[in-house]
Amino acid sequence: MSQPRRLENVQTDRGSIPVYATGVVAQPWDGYTETDHDVWKRLYARQRELLVGRASDAFLRAQAEMGLTPDRIPRFDDLNRVLGEATGWQLVGVEGLLPELTFFEHLANRRFPVTWWIRRPEQLDYLSEPDLFHDLFGHVPLLMNPVFADYMEAYGRGGIKAHGLGAEAMQHLARLYWYTVEFGLIREPAGLRIYGSGIVSSSGESVHSLESASPNRIGFDLERVMRTRYRIDTFQQTYFVIDSFEQLMEDTAQDFGPIYARLADGDSLPAGAVLDTDQVHTRGSGEGWASAGDT
Ligand SMILES: [Fe+2]
Repeated sequence: MSQPRRLENVQTDRGSIPVYATGVVAQPWDGYTETDHDVWKRLYARQRELLVGRASDAFLRAQAEMGLTPDRIPRFDDLNRVLGEATGWQLVGVEGLLPELTFFEHLANRRFPVTWWIRRPEQLDYLSEPDLFHDLFGHVPLLMNPVFADYMEAYGRGGIKAHGLGAEAMQHLARLYWYTVEFGLIREPAGLRIYGSGIVSSSGESVHSLESASPNRIGFDLERVMRTRYRIDTFQQTYFVIDSFEQLMEDTAQDFGPIYARLADGDSLPAGAVLDTDQVHTRGSGEGWASAGDT
């Protein structure tokens, strides 16, 4: 059998061009080098420390319960036993980014694709694409939470439907993923906390999302989120705050068809917009925002 490949984005003078993988591969655990394990160990220690008092309670608890090994890259097979028992989700190894429909089909069947390779030591602080650390440390723990686990499956089914409807529906749905699964904040009794994977796997954004005066923090509203463009190259200008995973599940448990139809004619909103109708937790100072480049 051939070794799984490491498919990475290609860096060009016009930015990063995504390269897509399609297959599911066995995690080549014996092939990890000491450098790979050391990258995991350093990132794991740094983020676990940083996330105390910053990440949501559910995230920290789930992460502890999963038994992620701090010193070595965890084995997918070990995690699958724990995860399977908790919520029926399974991890599948992949070589890099997946085409959208393939990704949705995995989620709809309670399979979460995890990139088998880990970033290089010089990429500890930033990587423009998902790697094992982002996927495993950031995404997998909340799959232990029964409500969030259902949300992810529902998102996969919604994705398959949106894919059939076309590019505009896909764009609106992608914003929901971005502002919840990747960059979501949650309100807890002790204050705002992080649950988005893009934040918990980034040391800079873990601090920025909660402590910087620059970004807006706005109460979650489904249609508002679907209208809002986002940044893929810098910290977010706006974070949306949910009250609970139950709220997120309830607010999104509806047919998005009528919403897509309504949004089709509407203008999208800049990433940093604040509306009169918003429930504003904090209004950002806007310091350091680039004026163009929202997606
Ligand atoms: Fe992600």
